[in-house]
Formats: sequence, structure tokens, C-alpha cells
Amino acid sequence: MSVITCVEDLRVLAKKRVPKAFYDYADSGSYTESTYRANSSDLAALHLRQRVAINVDQRSTRSSMIGEEVTMPVAIAPTGLTGMQWANGEMLGAIAAEKFGIPFTLSTMSICSIEDVASVTTKPFWFQLYVMRDRGFIKSLIERAKAAKCSALVLTLDLQILGQRHKDLKNGMSVPPKMTLANLLDLATKPGWALRALGGRKSFGNLAGHVSGADGIMTLSKWTASQFDPTLNWDDIAWIKEQWGGKLILKGILDVEDAKIAATTGADAIVVSNHGGRQLDGAVSSISALPAIVEAVGDQIEVWFDGGIRSGQDVLKAVALGAKGTMIGRAFLYSLGAMGEAGVTRMLQILQQELDVSMALTGTKDIKDAGPHILT
Ligand code: GLV
Repeated sequence: MSVITCVEDLRVLAKKRVPKAFYDYADSGSYTESTYRANSSDLAALHLRQRVAINVDQRSTRSSMIGEEVTMPVAIAPTGLTGMQWANGEMLGAIAAEKFGIPFTLSTMSICSIEDVASVTTKPFWFQLYVMRDRGFIKSLIERAKAAKCSALVLTLDLQILGQRHKDLKNGMSVPPKMTLANLLDLATKPGWALRALGGRKSFGNLAGHVSGADGIMTLSKWTASQFDPTLNWDDIAWIKEQWGGKLILKGILDVEDAKIAATTGADAIVVSNHGGRQLDGAVSSISALPAIVEAVGDQIEVWFDGGIRSGQDVLKAVALGAKGTMIGRAFLYSLGAMGEAGVTRMLQILQQELDVSMALTGTKDIKDAGPHILT
């Protein structure tokens, strides 16, 4: 592979290096994938405003998210099965994020555990919580996140039921991978991955030993259906906030009415998100939902954004529309699957360079000054 210059290069490399079932898991949306595609195409349809003859020396991408200083307003989103893109991927992602100076979020559905990530980091990371039927287990996960000194809890609200991703069912995607003939043939073309996997974590690190069915081979769709709690409602969020007692981020808000309720919960931030187009197919793109939500609650709570970010220009567009912070999921997974920790570092450099150059060409010296005026 020649020089890596953009996130797309990392995606192409990840596709070559990661077993098909796990690459497909990352690179898919639900049903027709119309919402998945709209996330990117609606971002692409926005235009930055080219400005000239403005002194743009000494620029800064630095900002803050829920009071935490960030090198750029980008956090690594919680992503499931990350350690299947590259052995021990959650630990490597957290190390790269810490070195770069941005937050890392560990998913409940991660391969490395909360304790694994705590063992390789020196600064607090964030923990993402899915609400399962067993409230005793939720309490224990919250206690483990506290013990690991996580500085925020990211509560995902848009996945009480798992959206169907056709490729996962067709691939029979499971953790660990089943040793079928097709999988073995695929692995034979990905020897680096297979070799690293020998020494890596192989089951759901936060769940194994705690939740039935989490130790052996399982498909995500079946297991989620049996464990995740479809009764999740705003009263549960008050209960979780009380158990946690720290900074709380509500992820998966796409509607103004929900944003208004979320703003009354005492949470610190909301993430405007449709789960990367992986849940409600047919929903609007995240970027098209952002302005009205910022307008409705932006003065009461930090509004963040995810969905379709593959470049610094995308980050700038989201910030211009009022997002105080952004999250990246697939850009992270592609970079990890392509080159491990070095890939994540490279991806973060790329995003920051693109953000910096795009700021300059829109006449913006400080990311905090970006607003609707830099869009046409
Ligand atoms: C889990 O978060 C998923 O989208 O698969």
C-alpha cells in the first residue's frame, strides 16, 4: 500500500486485512442501508464557504467536550466487537486516543474489558452502557466503570432492539468466528490477522463470566434479542443517572421532542445519532437532524453529532451546524483494522490536518469560531 492520505485508504486496507464477517459488520447499515448512505451523502451535500485574504496564521483545533480538553472536537465512538478488527483493538484504540488527546469510549459489547482498557491507559476513558434486562448486571457494569475511573457514561438509547443488517446474517457473524470452511478460506488470505488473533482476547470481555451465553460462540442478533431490555424508558435513565452519579451522555437522539426530554434529565450531553444507519432504516440522516436539535436545546445541553464522518471537512461541517463535539465509529474501525494502533494514530492525524486546512480556507482561526456563517 502506498502512502495513506485519507480515511478511504484505511477502509480499503481494512477490507483486505480483516476477516469478511467482521469487516462487513463494521461497514453495513440496516435493511436497505438508505439511512447509512444518507449520513454520508447529506454531509457531502453541504458546502463550506471559501473565504480569502483573511489572516489565518496560528490556528487551533482545540476545544472541550463535557469540560474535558480535546485536541480536536472528536471522540472515538463506542463500537461493538472492536477487538475483532485487530487483536486487542480496544486497548490499542484507547492508547492511540490518549496519546492524541481525544476521548475514547469503550462499548459494553467490546472484546477487551473495562479492566483491560484501564490497565493500559493513564487518563480516564468513557464507558458506553447498553441497558439489559438484568438490572443487577447493569449495576455491576456501572460499578466496574466507576472502579476503572471512567469520566463519563455514554448511554445508548437507540438499540433496545437490534436493527437487521443483512450481511451479518448471511455471514453467520459470531464471536469468536465459527471455523467453517468459508471462514477458514477467508482467514487463509488474512494470515496477519489470524496470527495476532492467537494472542488476543476472543470473547465479549465485559460480559464473559457474567451473562449467560457470553462465553461461547454466539451471533450478535440472537444474543441481543435475549438480553437487551425493550422496556427501556426515561424512568430508567433517571435510575441509571442516580447509580452512576457522574457525567452522563445520552446517545441516539434524532428527534426534537426526544432532545427536549433529554435536556431535562440532567445529562451533560446528547449525541445526535442514528447509530451510523444501523438501526432505523428510513430515518433521516444525522446531519439533517442536527440544526433543529441545536436550535431547540443547544443552550441547555451540549449537542454532539455522529454519523458519516470520514474527514476533517465533515467534522467542520458538523461543528458549523452547532455540534460542540463529534464522534467517529467507522473511521476508527477502518483505521484499526488496517494498521492497528498506528492506523488509528494516522487516521486522527489525517482528520486533524483536514480540519485545520479546511478551517484556514474558510477563514477560521479557532474551531470555536466555526458557525453557520462558514457554510453556504
Ligand atoms: C452495536 O452497537 C451495533 O451497532 O452493532
